[in-house]
Amino acid sequence: MGSIVLPGGKLFLLSPILFQGPCNSPIVKLQVSGNITAHTNSTKWVGCENNSWLYFSSVSGLIISGTGHINGQGASWWNIANPLHKVVKGTCDRPTAIRFNFCNDLQLNGVNLVDSPRNHISITFSKRVTISHITISAPEDSPNTDGIDISTSHQVHILDSTIQTGDDCIAINLGCSNINITGISCGPGHGISVGSLGVNGTFATVENINVAHCTLQGTQNGVRIKTWQGGMGFARFINFENINLTDVRNPIIIDQFYCNGAHDCGIKPNAVQVSHVTYMDVFGTTPSKIAINLNCSDNSTACTNLLFHQINITSALPQKQTLAACHNAHGQVGNSSLPPITCLKP
Ligand SMILES: *[C@@H]1O[C@H](CO)[C@@H](O)[C@H](O)[C@H]1NC(C)=O
Ligand SMILES: *[C@@H]1O[C@H](CO)[C@@H](O)[C@H](O)[C@H]1NC(C)=O
Ligand SMILES: *[C@@H]1O[C@H](CO)[C@@H](O)[C@H](O)[C@H]1NC(C)=O
Ligand SMILES: *[C@@H]1O[C@H](CO)[C@@H](O)[C@H](O)[C@H]1NC(C)=O
Ligand SMILES: *[C@@H]1O[C@H](CO)[C@@H](O)[C@H](O)[C@H]1NC(C)=O
Ligand SMILES: *[C@@H]1O[C@H](CO)[C@@H](O)[C@H](O)[C@H]1NC(C)=O
Ligand SMILES: *[C@@H]1O[C@H](CO)[C@@H](O)[C@H](O)[C@H]1NC(C)=O
Ligand SMILES: *[C@@H]1O[C@H](CO)[C@@H](O)[C@H](O)[C@H]1NC(C)=O
Ligand SMILES: *[C@@H]1O[C@H](CO)[C@@H](O)[C@H](O)[C@H]1NC(C)=O
Repeated sequence: MGSIVLPGGKLFLLSPILFQGPCNSPIVKLQVSGNITAHTNSTKWVGCENNSWLYFSSVSGLIISGTGHINGQGASWWNIANPLHKVVKGTCDRPTAIRFNFCNDLQLNGVNLVDSPRNHISITFSKRVTISHITISAPEDSPNTDGIDISTSHQVHILDSTIQTGDDCIAINLGCSNINITGISCGPGHGISVGSLGVNGTFATVENINVAHCTLQGTQNGVRIKTWQGGMGFARFINFENINLTDVRNPIIIDQFYCNGAHDCGIKPNAVQVSHVTYMDVFGTTPSKIAINLNCSDNSTACTNLLFHQINITSALPQKQTLAACHNAHGQVGNSSLPPITCLKP
C-alpha cells in the first residue's frame, strides 16, 4: 500500500500540485494530520493543471483522512476586480481547492477545508465515493465557493458533515446517479442543489438522488432543482426527506427558468424534464412569503409526479403566512402540507 503522511503539528505550504495515477498500489493513503496552506498572495500561484490546487487524477482506492486544516487562502482571489487574478495565462484562474477526476473507490474523511479560491471540492468521473465527517468553511459573501460539486459520477455518499460557504452547499450536476446525501448541516450558503442542468441547450441527466436528514440554516435556498431553458434530458427519482430549515429564503424551489443573471435567456420550448420528485417531512421557517416555488417550464412534460408528504414550513416573521406558487407543476400532496399546495395540477 502506498502512503503519504503529513504529520501533526506541522504546516505545509503547497503550490498547485497534480497527483497523477494510475498507481501501482490498489490503495493509496494520504494521512492529513498536519495543516496545508496555499500561498496567501494569488500572484504566487502558478502551474494549476485544469484550474486546481490539489488535483487527484486517475488515482483509484485513494483514502484521505485526518483532522488537518486545508486552507486555500481564497481571500487573495475573491477581489475579482484585481487584474492580477489571471496570474499566468493557462495556469491558474481562480482554482478549485481539491479536484478528484477519475478517482474510483475514493474515501475522504475528517479533514477541514477553509477558504477555497473557488469551489472547495469537485468530483468528476468517479464511482464509489464516500465523504464523511468533513467541515468546509468560507465567508458568506465569498464568490462561487461551493462546498462539494459532483458531476458524471455514481454511487457517491456524502454524510455527517458541516458546510458553510458563499455558494451551493452541495451541487449535483449532469451525469450523476445514485447519490446519497445524509446528515449534512448547511449554512450560510445557497443550499443543496440539483443542477444547474441544460445550459446552452445541452443534454443532461440526473437520477436516483436521496437527500435526507439535512439541516439548512440561513441559506438562500433549501432544496433546489435548477434547469436552464432550452436544455434537454431529465432529473428524476429525487427524494428529499427529513429536511430541517431555519430561516431559509427559498425552502423548496424548482426553477426551470434558471439564468444566473448575466445571459440572454429568452423563452425556449425545450426543457430538462423534472419528474418523480418526493418531498417528505420538510419543515421549518422562512422569512419569505413563498415557501414552495414550483416554477416549471411551459413545456407540457416539464415537471411531473411531484409528491409532497408532511410539509410544514411556517413564516419566521410573527403573524405572517406562507404560500405555495406553481407554474405548470404537476403532482400531488400526500397527507399534509403547510402551506397548502392548491396550485399543483394532477
Ligand atoms: C492547524 O489549523 C488549525 C485551524 O486554523 C489551528 O487551530 C492549528 O493550530 C493549526 N496547527 C498547526 C500546526 O498549524
Ligand atoms: C502580491 O504579489 C504582487 C507581485 O509580486 C505584489 O505586487 C503585491 O503587492 C503582493 N500582494 C500582497 C498583499 O502582498
Ligand atoms: C484536464 O482536463 C482535460 C479536459 O477535460 C482532460 O482531458 C485532462 O485529462 C485533464 N487533466 C488531468 C490531469 O486529469
Ligand atoms: C443513504 O445513506 C443512509 C445512511 O447514511 C442509509 O441508511 C440509506 O439506506 C442510504 N440510502 C440510499 C438510497 O442509498
Ligand atoms: C453559452 O454559449 C455562449 C455562446 O456560445 C457562450 O458565450 C456562453 O459562455 C455559454 N454559456 C455558458 C454558461 O456556458
Ligand atoms: C432543526 O434545526 C434547528 C436549528 O439547528 C434545531 O434547533 C431544531 O431542534 C431542529 N429540529 C429538529 C426536529 O431536529
Ligand atoms: C418564475 O420564473 C419567471 C421567469 O424567470 C419569473 O419571471 C417569475 O417571477 C418566477 N415566478 C416565481 C413565483 O418566482
Ligand atoms: C408546524 O410547525 C409549527 C412550528 O414548529 C408547529 O407549531 C405546528 O404544530 C406544525 N404543524 C403541523 C401540522 O405539524
Ligand atoms: C404520511 O405519509 C407518509 C408517506 O406515505 C407516511 O409514512 C406517514 O405515516 C403519513 N403520516 C400520517 C400522519 O398519516
